[in-house]
Amino acid sequence: MLTDRYGRVAASLRLSLTDRCNLRCSYCMPEEGLAWLQREEVLTDDEVVRLVRVAVGLGMRDVRLTGGEPLLRRGLVGLVERLAALPDRPSLALTTNGVGLARLAGPLAAAGLDRVNVSLDTLRRDVFATVTRRDRLDDVLAGLAAARDAGLGPVKVNSVLVRGVNDDEAVPLVEWALHEGYELRIIEQMPLDAQGAWERERMVTAEEVLDRLSRAFVLLEDAHRGSSPAERWWVLRDGVKLGRVGVIASVTRPFCGACDRMRITADGQVRNCLFARGETDLRGLLRGGGSDDDIAEVLRGSVAAKLPGHGIDEPGFLQPSRPMSAIGG
Ligand code: GTP
Ligand code: 5AD
Ligand code: SF4
Repeated sequence: MLTDRYGRVAASLRLSLTDRCNLRCSYCMPEEGLAWLQREEVLTDDEVVRLVRVAVGLGMRDVRLTGGEPLLRRGLVGLVERLAALPDRPSLALTTNGVGLARLAGPLAAAGLDRVNVSLDTLRRDVFATVTRRDRLDDVLAGLAAARDAGLGPVKVNSVLVRGVNDDEAVPLVEWALHEGYELRIIEQMPLDAQGAWERERMVTAEEVLDRLSRAFVLLEDAHRGSSPAERWWVLRDGVKLGRVGVIASVTRPFCGACDRMRITADGQVRNCLFARGETDLRGLLRGGGSDDDIAEVLRGSVAAKLPGHGIDEPGFLQPSRPMSAIGG
């Protein structure tokens, strides 16, 4: 088992498969994109499969494929098939912006993917184009439906609210998600954008969101949280549970104390936290003849060095040197 100094066990591996993206969400990256990794810098399928095998041997149970946009990774279906064929296979999930998912949901499910979480911040076409700088709302909606139909569920939808842009959409998003059978989670925006434009005062807080939701719905707290970043509520109408809604309050009510995550970037760097100040190189080991034990040692060392929390509220907090799209969402 991978245990840190605070007794937390790392059981969930978030693996970024590419730093590239086909959207340009304003809270994530600039219009012109970023200086993407070169192809040879990105871990190969063989390298990814080996890392997951070693991580599973150390007790990691859940693997979440992220990016950038992981559906842009060539050969993704084949990679999922290989991960699903590992002995003692971990659960396999994917976090995606949903563009291209309509075509890939069926093949991914057949390859062994268990679940998807899809990012969608608005149901209005014009607002979608403003937030993501691309006119792809219909693709995302089709992708979500395809994921649900392929059994990649419960399908979760992640929404980041931006003040003055889509902060009036909390209630309509919940109504839509309940109707479609998706679990919506509204996320507090974190200081992880490439532009460094995040401002705490402008962030739409969980408290604000819950205030709006509780005016529109009867909410009943769901106590089973575990290591999930989301606090969840059942939405009731006439005493009947219509479905669940979640709030991910990473900034104002951090879940760091229960964090079970570890991350590996697309270029093979281990990070013990989204906000870690440092990374440890695994790619050099993979390509330099390192043994499985050497890899395990690096993973153990990284987990052991994990800090108790993200420190956003502490004086001297510095945003990580890489944005979320490069670290892995
Ligand atoms: P589930 O297992 O389905 O609950 O997945 P998840 O919610 O962990 O994964 P997802 O990729 O959907 O992430 C949703 C949001 O959780 C992200 O947009 C982040 O805002 C937040 N999040 C994910 N990982 C971390 C983390 O390590 N630290 C913090 N602070 N927030 C995170
Ligand atoms: N803060 C919080 N969530 C973010 N995401 C991207 N950037 C940020 C940020 N700065 C979300 C995306 C997606 C998930 C992977 O992370 O909307 O749902
Ligand atoms: Fe792409 Fe996700 Fe960043 Fe949006 S938030 S630009 S979908 S990586």
